[in-house]
Amino acid sequence: MKLMIINGPNLNMLGIREPGIYGDQSYDHLVEMIRSYCDKKHIEVSFFQSNHEGDLVDCIQKAYFASFDGIVINPGAYTHTSIALLDALKAVSIPAVEVHISKVNEREAFRQISYIREVCIASVIGLGFDGYLKAVDLLCEAADGKTP
Ligand code: DQA
Repeated sequence: MKLMIINGPNLNMLGIREPGIYGDQSYDHLVEMIRSYCDKKHIEVSFFQSNHEGDLVDCIQKAYFASFDGIVINPGAYTHTSIALLDALKAVSIPAVEVHISKVNEREAFRQISYIREVCIASVIGLGFDGYLKAVDLLCEAADGKTP
């Protein structure tokens, strides 16, 4: 099992940005938390973060050519705007889980829209950093043939 964890704009600012919403732990902490979780489960994991939409598209395409089995993606604000990310996920057909740290469903109206949701096997919303671990579990279960 080989997973790609993709984080979009401003997620490199975790710990600094709006701690009341996103918590006070850093992006590096998030990476270490996911890495140790995946190590215990013998899952090979790679990480990518960018503030640039096209770089996120490139990462999704590279995941295809490098034969990744699953994608965990928090596209940040591009969730609510990006048809390019939707098309990239459609193009590669790699099982993907959408993650949001905050309760986007209880925030502004514009955060209710997710362009990528329709191609994701699941969306994990409002569980904080633990949402990424839940997403890993969902991808493992999907790989084992269990529907989430
Ligand atoms: C977010 C929610 C988005 O609305 C926001 O733009 C982010 C982070 C989240 O993880 O809760 O950057 O995706």
